[in-house]
Amino acid sequence: MIAVRPARPGEEFVIEDVIRRSILASYAHFLPKKVFRRIMDADRPGVEARENGPDFAIAELDGTPAGAMLLTGDYVDHLWTHPDFMGRGVGSALLAHAEARAAQAGHPRLTLNCFERNKQALAFYHARGYATERTYTASEDIVAGERVCFMAKQIDPDPAASR
Ligand SMILES: CC(C)(COP(=O)(O)OP(=O)(O)OC[C@H]1O[C@@H](n2cnc3c(N)ncnc32)[C@H](O)[C@@H]1OP(=O)(O)O)[C@@H](O)C(=O)NCCC(=O)NCCS
Repeated sequence: MIAVRPARPGEEFVIEDVIRRSILASYAHFLPKKVFRRIMDADRPGVEARENGPDFAIAELDGTPAGAMLLTGDYVDHLWTHPDFMGRGVGSALLAHAEARAAQAGHPRLTLNCFERNKQALAFYHARGYATERTYTASEDIVAGERVCFMAKQIDPDPAASR
């Protein structure tokens, strides 16, 4: 059974572990080595977990933390499934949770960025109703030069939401 809940105080290490292992199982295979090395040298998993930990949602699969997601407004900032649990519905549950929360807050759509090279994730998002609105070249130092797809999906905002 998959349950999505807010991260608890002190769970930064859980989030960091999910991000690190998910990156190693994915980005390591499709990003140029130098870009991947810059991400790891900058300790992005640790930095993201420490800076944003309390705002993450965690998905538990049968009681074990299996994925992590960060929603900022109508933007999915992070979505990671631990590789031991990929393909078992964790990413879908976290994305559905993000859509429900964004709708409750009155947003008419959900947005996210995905590397163009990340074919598995692009297919995952397409299958769940997300379309690429534009592609652009990243300028942020650490991933400079990488092509990024900005994706969006229309959702039904809760009419009762006060925005
Ligand atoms: C993309 C990702 C979040 C999907 O989460 P998940 O828990 O594996 O996904 P689910 O089990 O809910 O759904 C499985 C679907 O994802 C696809 N998928 C994408 N990457 C996969 C992977 N590495 N392993 C298994 N399935 C994967 C499957 O093909 C399947 O598609 P379908 O149901 O449309 O046929 C996850 O694979 C992941 O963390 N990838 C690495 C990090 C990443 O790319 N994050 C997104 C950054 S924009």
